[in-house]
Amino acid sequence: MPFSLEELQDLGLVNVNYPENLRKAVERAIASWKSFCYFPREEKKAFLFLEDNHGDGAGYELKEEKGSKKDLKENFHITLYQYERLAAIANQRTLPFLNDAKILLDAMEPLILQFSEKVEKEFHVKGLAEEVKLSKPYWILRYLHYFGDRQEGVEIASPHADKGGFTLHLYESDEGLQYFCITTRQWKAMPVYEKQTVIIPALQLQLRSEGNLKALYHRVVATKETARTGRFSMVCFVTFQKTPMYNKNRYGNVQTHDTGFNYSIPQSEFAKLFLGV
Ligand SMILES: [Fe+2]
Repeated sequence: MPFSLEELQDLGLVNVNYPENLRKAVERAIASWKSFCYFPREEKKAFLFLEDNHGDGAGYELKEEKGSKKDLKENFHITLYQYERLAAIANQRTLPFLNDAKILLDAMEPLILQFSEKVEKEFHVKGLAEEVKLSKPYWILRYLHYFGDRQEGVEIASPHADKGGFTLHLYESDEGLQYFCITTRQWKAMPVYEKQTVIIPALQLQLRSEGNLKALYHRVVATKETARTGRFSMVCFVTFQKTPMYNKNRYGNVQTHDTGFNYSIPQSEFAKLFLGV
């Protein structure tokens, strides 16, 4: 897997070319999600979102945020851990969507493990690859659909770092995803190309790498086009099951911290944000 770990450390992100089978699995999964979004609301809401103790949980959510009716999005989380529960809810036309997600989770495994091995070796994160492997049932495939009818320039996803270990940005239907640069502390475009995934460290990897890798802050801004039409995206959260989780109950949503608060914080301070550290 040719990519530069220097880039990962300095930029906080790395572009990795897809193997052909993975590119196809991504394409199929996103096409299925787009179809799923057109199904009747009741059929979608049947996939009740259930939290579990391994990350965020799984199922369908329709969200109304910040008190604005225009601020709507729908998302679906799929994990292998909850796959059978979701499959039992599915009917003939929704089952292929779940099945494509399962195929994609399997197709991603080699790339995710290679990435973990490389990070383990280069940044001396002992046991990382093994932990990522045993965490596979809890990798979260997150599908998003932001609705249109918004204003150009508004943040449709507020600035945040992800809570898990690392995140693969698999698909973005449009421009508008941005990252907060570690060195210049400015927002920059983060394009996700058809033939590549972009991997970014999240909070647990910053903890495990002793701060050598920073959890990258990112946001989504409505472009002229997506403000009107909405946008689709897909990510995979790789959570670390043996690493302490970010203590959300005590420190609130990651969105409540200052943007980039973690870029220059001492490791001892940063570690306090995690359960049981
Ligand atoms: Fe995110």
